[in-house]
Amino acid sequence: MKENNLSSTVISETESSETIAPSTGKSIQRDSQGLVRRRSFLQGLGVAGVALSTGALVTTKASAATFSSNTELSKGDVAILKLLAAAELIEADLWQQYAELGGVTQGTQNPYQLALQNLDGDGSQYISSNNLDEQSHAAFLNAYLVSKGEEPVDLDRFRTLPSSQATGAQQIGRLTNVMQLSVDTSWYVRYRSATNPDFGATFAEALAALAKGQFPGIPRTNADFGPKHHVQAIANTAAFHFGFIEQAGSSLYATLSQKVSNAEVLKITLSIGGDEICHFLEWVDFAGNGVQPPIAPFTDPTNGLHFPNFDAKKNPLLQTNLIFPVPCEFISPNLPHCAVIRPTSPGQIDAVGAINGFISDGLFIGQTPEFSELVLNLAHEADAARRS
Ligand SMILES: [Fe+2]
Ligand SMILES: [Fe+2]
Repeated sequence: MKENNLSSTVISETESSETIAPSTGKSIQRDSQGLVRRRSFLQGLGVAGVALSTGALVTTKASAATFSSNTELSKGDVAILKLLAAAELIEADLWQQYAELGGVTQGTQNPYQLALQNLDGDGSQYISSNNLDEQSHAAFLNAYLVSKGEEPVDLDRFRTLPSSQATGAQQIGRLTNVMQLSVDTSWYVRYRSATNPDFGATFAEALAALAKGQFPGIPRTNADFGPKHHVQAIANTAAFHFGFIEQAGSSLYATLSQKVSNAEVLKITLSIGGDEICHFLEWVDFAGNGVQPPIAPFTDPTNGLHFPNFDAKKNPLLQTNLIFPVPCEFISPNLPHCAVIRPTSPGQIDAVGAINGFISDGLFIGQTPEFSELVLNLAHEADAARRS
């Protein structure tokens, strides 16, 4: 956790070297430790601030066609890749909305950015970076499908949901709704527990009120920029939603990887899945910062949503600094507990489970039934894949 440290987003400009990003052909600058200078990378992409448009990183069919290995994909692997491409387009859409209002910008920060930076001084940068990563996942998976002669997943006709009216949000059609969230917060307890959903374990909500009601994860209009505890509640809602989304991505990739047949496809699912886990870890810490002093306890005066101080409860299932997965049951109850991503069995957060989780979350409120049907069909096909 860093405090009030926006300046740390700039890595020294000295002793840098350049490489070319394979998907974009753009220059990536690295410092002497090999660290990518994300801001330079964004500037290299011609992105003002960090408000990436959905198409900003979409690799064209022409450039995708420059890569083609000899591997022929099985029907199951194609189904898995298509479902993952759809899931990444959904992730990219929601993360872009968070980044437009809460991501890193220069100059005066809006009250939502400040509330997110209360949770971590680098919070806005992390949001922009998570958005960049999701755009890259979606663009890569679709380009890879094209390189194998498969149709990419195109959800553009469903970009119909309204944008936030708050200053900073682009006025474009969206795939997802992050303004009426019912955030499942049981992941917070699950990762602090010694039991595993793969063995039938269930978990209480860390914040039952957040799971039951409908709350905005971004300011809906400029009126949501205050009062102070209202905008902090929106930032805290976002924090628990970030963890929810990325734990789902972590389990989804780990579950589907077990069904992949081709080694190159497995390389893709393990490698992107690893990035989802990187995101998840940060948001575990971030969400925990919203339920301890000096942020919590507090109550949103507009709707009564309360964020208690979890540490005051002296309950290890809520302890805010337990950010790594606590060892739990794994594979067999006869084996020792193991610190792992969970669940990873069928019928949990597999493809259908992940999409149903998005639906329960309120992400698709306002979408046509055709949208959920299309995505659920892709999910059923992915879950039906068998390793060969
Ligand atoms: Fe992703
Ligand atoms: Fe993700």
